[in-house]
Order: sequence, then structure tokens, then C-alpha cells
Amino acid sequence: MRPAGAIAARVLDEIMGFIRPGVTTRQVDEFAAAQMKAHGGKSAFLGYRNYPSHTCLSVNDEVVHGLAGERELRFGDIISVDVGVVYKGFIGDNARTMAVGGCGVQAQQLMEVTEASLYKGIAAAVAGNRVTDISRAVPDYVDSKGFSVVREFVGHGVGRTMHEEPQVPNFVDLKSNDKLVPGMTIAIEPMVNAGRPEIKILKDGWTVVTQDGSLSAHFEHTVLITDGEPEILTWLTPSKLKAA
Ligand code: MF3
Ligand code: CO
Repeated sequence: MRPAGAIAARVLDEIMGFIRPGVTTRQVDEFAAAQMKAHGGKSAFLGYRNYPSHTCLSVNDEVVHGLAGERELRFGDIISVDVGVVYKGFIGDNARTMAVGGCGVQAQQLMEVTEASLYKGIAAAVAGNRVTDISRAVPDYVDSKGFSVVREFVGHGVGRTMHEEPQVPNFVDLKSNDKLVPGMTIAIEPMVNAGRPEIKILKDGWTVVTQDGSLSAHFEHTVLITDGEPEILTWLTPSKLKAA
């Protein structure tokens, strides 16, 4: 899981460097596929339930599962990039939202709050805690900042397959309340809307957008539960990539 996480983080970082005004989401997706291959991995998303792209590229009011296409990114857009890589049979999954060139103050705050909420969740990902400790930490923080957490999509266990037990909702759901034990690897992934929490799915069957048209952000890490501090497997470190 460590090498898979390192490669997923590396590819996400490389995509960040590629994104600029004028590129299409298809160009971003093709670049991502090439980088995954260059590192010896491949997309965990392509073909998953017939998902048609290598990555999820969700722009502005798109929450998650945005498809690659002819849309040109413009200065001031924000884009959530979700990268899942299979490497030697294991999967690393991570996401982040960035501005294309620059963005407005609300978008900037939304991204900051969403990323910070991910770290609140990670801080709760310690042995002896339960999934609901994560599921409480995330919305407590987001709500305090006046934004809203999406409820229809959740984090998850991740390993040899992308979606394993337990589900890791960004809201307290007693149906998913396993104890966290050392050795578990989970993807924590808050999706946060600037406006109301409700979403809808576009006619393409995949793209999730906010119902009210407000902006949305998404940050995700794959995290290992240990005897001590949680270990973020999708942290960007050159040394870990070498080990891969
Ligand atoms: N990171 C998302 C998830 O864990 C991305 C899944 S995209 C899909 O669910 F196409 F593979 F579904
Ligand atoms: Co995920």
C-alpha cells in the first residue's frame, strides 16, 4: 500500500503542475494516464462500473466523478482532481481541489476548509477510535465554517480493491462504526459545498453537481491506521517514491 499511495500522490502532484487555463479535461486525463504508466501503475477508476475516464475531474459546481471531455479550463475555475492508481495489486486513492490560475475568495476559503476538514478526520483515525470519530470530526469543522458536507458519497476502506469495508461517511452513521485497528487502510474524502449540501447526477450518469449551483471541493488521502499516529500513504515524498 505504501508504494501505491506514493505513486498516487506523485501523479496527483504532476497533474497539478499540468493544469492551466486553456487545457481541456481530456488533455489532463491523458496526461494523468501517461504519468501513471510512467510510474508502473494504472488507473483504478477506468472501467470501474464502466467509468470512462482515468481520473475524476470535477469543475466548479461539480462535486465528484466529473468526466474527461472537451471542456477547456478557464482562469478562475476550481477543479477537483481525484486519482486512484493500481500498483502491484494495491490501490492508492487521493484527491485535491485547485484553482486554475487563480480564483475568488469564496473558492479559496472553500478549498482551505475542505482540506482542513480532511486533516481533522485523519487526526481521529487512530487505533481504538471508531469510524464515527472520523465521521464526526469532519462535519463538526465544516459546519463551524458555514459550508456543508455532501452525504451521498463516502470514504471507504481501500486495499486490493478500491471500495472495501468499512464505509467512512463524512457524517455520523451508526451503520458504519467499526473499531479502527492497526493495519487498516482507509480513504478519507470529504466533499464540501459552499452552499446547500444536496447534489444531483447529470444525464451522463456520473457527474455529480451541487443542486444549488454552488462551488464544491474535494480532498482525499489514503491513510494507514497504526499503533500510533495515522500514516498518510498518499503523502508526497521523494523517498517513498524511490522505494516504489
Ligand atoms: N475517489 C473516488 C472513490 O473513492 C473515485 C471513484 S471514481 C470511479 O469513490 F469511477 F471509480 F467510481
Ligand atoms: Co476514494
